[in-house]
Amino acid sequence: MTSSIRFLMCAPHHYEVDYVINPWMEGNIHRSSLETAQEQWQNLYQIIADRADVDLVKPQQGWPDMVFTANAGLILGNQVVLSRFLHPERQGEEPFFKEWFEAQGHQVFTLPPELPFEGAGDALLDREGRWLWAGYGFRTELDSHGLVAEWLNIEVLSLHLMDERFYHLDTCFCPLTNGYLLYYPPAFDAYSNRLIELRVPPEKRIAIEEADAINFACNSVNIDSLVIMNKASDELKARLAEAGFEVVETPLTEFLKAGGAAKCLTLRVTEPLHPEPAKTGLLSRTVTMTGHLLDSGLVSRALDLVMEGGGSFQVLNFDLGEQRQSTSSADIRVSAPSQEIMDEIMAQLIDLGAVALPAEQQDAHLVTITQAGVAPDDFYSSTIYPTEVRVRGEWVRVQGQRMDGVIVVSESEPVATCKLLRDLAVGDQVIVGYDGIRSVRSTKDRSRAAAATEEFSFMGSGVSSERRVELIVEQVAWDLRRLRDQGGKVAVVAGPVVIHTGGGDHLSRLIREGYVQALLGGNAIAVHDIEQAMLGTSLGVDMKQGTSVRGGHRHHLRAINSIRRCGSIANAVDQGVLTRGVLYECVKNDVPFSLAGSIRDDGPLPDTKMDLLEAQADYARLIEGCDLILMLSTMLHAIGVGNMTPAGVKMVCVDINPAVVTKLADRGSLESTGVVTDVGLFLSLLVKQLDRLTQRHVVVQ
Ligand code: ARG
Repeated sequence: MTSSIRFLMCAPHHYEVDYVINPWMEGNIHRSSLETAQEQWQNLYQIIADRADVDLVKPQQGWPDMVFTANAGLILGNQVVLSRFLHPERQGEEPFFKEWFEAQGHQVFTLPPELPFEGAGDALLDREGRWLWAGYGFRTELDSHGLVAEWLNIEVLSLHLMDERFYHLDTCFCPLTNGYLLYYPPAFDAYSNRLIELRVPPEKRIAIEEADAINFACNSVNIDSLVIMNKASDELKARLAEAGFEVVETPLTEFLKAGGAAKCLTLRVTEPLHPEPAKTGLLSRTVTMTGHLLDSGLVSRALDLVMEGGGSFQVLNFDLGEQRQSTSSADIRVSAPSQEIMDEIMAQLIDLGAVALPAEQQDAHLVTITQAGVAPDDFYSSTIYPTEVRVRGEWVRVQGQRMDGVIVVSESEPVATCKLLRDLAVGDQVIVGYDGIRSVRSTKDRSRAAAATEEFSFMGSGVSSERRVELIVEQVAWDLRRLRDQGGKVAVVAGPVVIHTGGGDHLSRLIREGYVQALLGGNAIAVHDIEQAMLGTSLGVDMKQGTSVRGGHRHHLRAINSIRRCGSIANAVDQGVLTRGVLYECVKNDVPFSLAGSIRDDGPLPDTKMDLLEAQADYARLIEGCDLILMLSTMLHAIGVGNMTPAGVKMVCVDINPAVVTKLADRGSLESTGVVTDVGLFLSLLVKQLDRLTQRHVVVQ
């Protein structure tokens, strides 16, 4: 016995494979020999006791896995986070471990119920005490990492376990003296591997092969330069020797049957405690988040995002609301190895609604544009969410909120506006970095959020029940009527499928009856609408018979030609050449329309804007102030419009292709609804429903 290193172990008097809670236990129920187990345990005990102090906790009848003291909790200094086992089969061990910790005078932290964390099985301190590696994915939940980080006041690097056989972090990952790391990379997802590589230099990483991994080589007890394990290949021994380690093998096969080996059978009670925050050359920033953090899953999304981005976090404060309904708040310190990684993470956290601290005292950083149409590299790019920026001590709401813009600030007023990169002028002041920016995510009440989720899962499944379509039609009809009566604004974004599926007449009616205030589309919807109006076909298909007509393939070109002769669609209406249809109604009822061209356009019609920048600007102008946008079977134009539209505008996307609907739903704003159905059918139901509403109205009067 040399140093003051101490371990906790538990003799295997009641050890047994009694149930299956990991793949190693499968087929091994009652297949372990207690005698051999005791002998193997005794050998391990002796090897460790020769080099360190070993404390013992009393084994308990009925808790066969209690030998695996690594899972008792996580100790740092005088503090310990008690495990919360995922499986009921092990939950009964908790009070015994708790008692032991308390008897030692440790301060014991207990996690809220239903938040599994399996102690040092899933949380391993860097041997220099610089940070904590924490695993999740099987036994431990990511959310627990936040609390552990806060209680132990340590930086946590979360690693996502992917291979069921390596269900605890200590089965595939073993930090060693002098910053070395013994690990099995395929047990982790790509992000985690990247994080490991960012933190541990290549010469310190000892990656092992599967053959060693399944012998539990990573499940080693490390005491100074000694690595005690079940078994190691010659290559591994050589590799470790090169790094200055000596391997001591001691067979633990009986314990492998329960999914554990040397490290699992021990808990290191004396862990290096570094009171000073480690000087790691890391950048760190603090953000604060408020809202229904747990219910909405916001914190775990934020932490996920930090880890996936290659950063790490420390939770400084986590104020759970008093009631389930009340809001909570969390301060999270984010660390990142480089400015670039930090910027990327911060931008995403701000999108989630986090505010960089100390935001209260900090204005947004402005940089003056020196080359037209080009921003500095660290420009802040905008989202669909309402955003505020701090200018000379004042929070200013950003105007013209849209996705993928740059925020330009004129300080004199002060006014902040979203601009596109290409519209930046020399002298414009744009926001860079993420200080003094906050995005306002409305805390919708929870029932609404739930309803939206239900909607999206319905879309995700790609099947639309008839009733579901009806419900959405009823809702849209109600909105259309209400908005018309209140003088609201509705835009329709439509693709040619509207005409092909026989929806042209219905859409014409909606326009005629004042339900639509703007129409957006491409060349094609106008071409086929006009073709149908003039020749009765849509892409050569007779709309009454449903069959192709001879020479029909020329029809749309004839339609285009006629309009070109008149000079514009409006002229064609004036001259009596175009007498019905969607575009006709637009002209007649003064409903502005915009047709955006594309590479596949025939013609085009004289009205089609082939200058895309002009078309984008035109679209943006037409959707300004919209209350509702109906997107009818057009992926291209619907997504284009989606990008320009701020959160808060209701969007209904109808498409037979679930992918299009999901894509729009992905913007994550609660106001968007999707329905997977035939657009012609949708429009016919909508018109019928509006009729019904109108009749009801008459009856009531
Ligand atoms: N049978 C135990 C379980 O599945 C084995 C625990 C191994 N412990 C460890 N730290 N990996 O929970």
